[in-house]
Amino acid sequence: MRTPVIAGNWKMYKTIAEAVDFVTKLKPLVAAAAHCEVIVAPPFTALRAVTEAVKGSNIAVAAQDVHWDKEGAHTGDISPVMLLEAGCTHVIIGHSERRTDHGETDESVNRKVKAALARGLLPIVCVGERLAEREAGKTEEVLKRQFQGGFAGLTPEEFSRIIVAYEPVWAIGTGRTATPEMAAESHRYFRGLVRGQFGEAVAGALRILYGGSVKPDNVAGLMAQEEIDGALVGGASLKPDSFAALVNYPRA
Ligand code: PGA
Repeated sequence: MRTPVIAGNWKMYKTIAEAVDFVTKLKPLVAAAAHCEVIVAPPFTALRAVTEAVKGSNIAVAAQDVHWDKEGAHTGDISPVMLLEAGCTHVIIGHSERRTDHGETDESVNRKVKAALARGLLPIVCVGERLAEREAGKTEEVLKRQFQGGFAGLTPEEFSRIIVAYEPVWAIGTGRTATPEMAAESHRYFRGLVRGQFGEAVAGALRILYGGSVKPDNVAGLMAQEEIDGALVGGASLKPDSFAALVNYPRA
């Protein structure tokens, strides 16, 4: 049994005060959620305040990006050591908005994944095709390239600490969700790649989250798919009630 993960990616939303207010309200709403792991990913400025505010709760904190170096002349970047000091346990790597806005590549994803793992941070690595790629029938090709590039050189033990988020770019923030079947098909393909590279045990234990317009009214259908092990949520993670409804999705 894979423990599901419901993760909220706040992107560039929430001041420190708003972030603390959010988790203060969220804590009692998800306190009984023993069926899944709950993660929030605030912007860098709010990380420390949020990790303090969630102490003793079942909410873990992720950063939204990380540099691969411990320190150095990298204006605007944040190192794994700094994230650990701020109390983070997880870090999102390779989100499509990072790839688009900041030119991230599978190679930079790979460096970040290795650095995060080496320091004991758990990566949530995003993969997924763009609309034109899906329409051209290239979804599997894209996933394979992202898998081979982003996870190159990892041992099975290292890979076993990773969470993958399949986020078709055309479904992010558009209200256009992949159907549960479409998502499951991509997850199945990706898990097959993992099986080929790292073996059955690692593939069977890998959590693959779906991301892209997940909302309280479509989460149950997605989570009913055997292949879908959770959700990485943007827009619907920004209000405590909505995010709590995702965490407490109806279960059979
Ligand atoms: P969305 O974002 O839920 O707003 O579509 C998902 C994501 O980008 O992780």
